Amino acid sequence: MRPPDPPFALLAELTHRCPLACPYCSNPLTLARAASELETDEWRRVLDEAAKLGVLQVHFSGGEPLIRKDLELLIAHAGQCGLYTNLITSGMALSPARATALAQAGLDHAQLSLQDTDALNADLFSGSKNTLAQKTAAAAMLRAADLPLTLNAVMHRGNLAHLEAMIETALAFGAGRLEVAHVQYYGWALRNRAALMPTRAQIDLATQIVTAARARLSGRLVIDYVVPDYYATRPKACMGGWAQRFLNVDPAGNVLPCHAAQSIPDMHFDTVREKSLGEIWRNSAAFNRFRGAGWMPEPCQSCERREVDWGGCRCQALALTGDAGATDPACALSPHHAEMLATAQNEAAAPAPDFIYRRY
Ligand code: SF4
Ligand code: FES
Repeated sequence: MRPPDPPFALLAELTHRCPLACPYCSNPLTLARAASELETDEWRRVLDEAAKLGVLQVHFSGGEPLIRKDLELLIAHAGQCGLYTNLITSGMALSPARATALAQAGLDHAQLSLQDTDALNADLFSGSKNTLAQKTAAAAMLRAADLPLTLNAVMHRGNLAHLEAMIETALAFGAGRLEVAHVQYYGWALRNRAALMPTRAQIDLATQIVTAARARLSGRLVIDYVVPDYYATRPKACMGGWAQRFLNVDPAGNVLPCHAAQSIPDMHFDTVREKSLGEIWRNSAAFNRFRGAGWMPEPCQSCERREVDWGGCRCQALALTGDAGATDPACALSPHHAEMLATAQNEAAAPAPDFIYRRY
């Protein structure tokens, strides 16, 4: 078999510790404890190995990566390795001095999450207090440090009515990009699915709003739009295809093809404490299990889109069919598609249950 092409990006999950408790968190059900986190030198070695492997971008994420005191050291090291650096943060507890330090360390870009434009809702959807005010302040700090900014708006039945206001907020915050991403139901988010599931009418209206805003704001704000799988007819190419473009290193050093891969029960993940990133990328059984198209069942195997969407999402297939090797039910050709759509419609039509929050 020919060796795989190099990955494009590394998601460096520095910690699972987080000040927020968002009910749509996509992190695994079992979080890495602080004592198991990789040390600074271990992360430096991972970054060296990533650059050697051909990775171009590193996304520092969590949990909340600002909790790591060595974040600036790691950003600077990544820059020295020639990696483009992006910080994915809640912005909670960011200070002006820290924003300046991040910029001085060479950070290329920051992504800030936004739960809602309504202060009470922002606290409800983050499981925290004073969330909107702190995020407003964090956006100002990042822009004052001259960092390019993307706003991440995770959308669901509770905040879709505020989508227009989210777009205005992105402009007011000085963001150059807005990600309007409907909740993906992995990890903790799956537990809260019924509380988060929008109706088809909400989705259709959101699509109209985004289409109009893209035309109106062309040249001022780029809007990325991630549609929810449950109302789709074809799946997304999750992670650009399993083990094709991305790899994740979790806080304890496990190397994963996607952030939710640990939900797949019969899979062993190699760790950077035992093997190099390059060796894992090329030879790990977990990466090779669903790489390419050879593993696919019908109808994917004989489908002309098999190298477009790569059969969709393995973690979603597992969650909804019990088999990570099944066709993603988001595909209308899957035998489970009608059931998935009915689940969405039934959950969206019922009164929303209370959120189940997770505390670290
Ligand atoms: Fe994609 Fe498989 Fe559906 Fe074809 S059958 S569109 S490859 S998920
Ligand atoms: Fe794991 Fe899609 S989230 S493959």
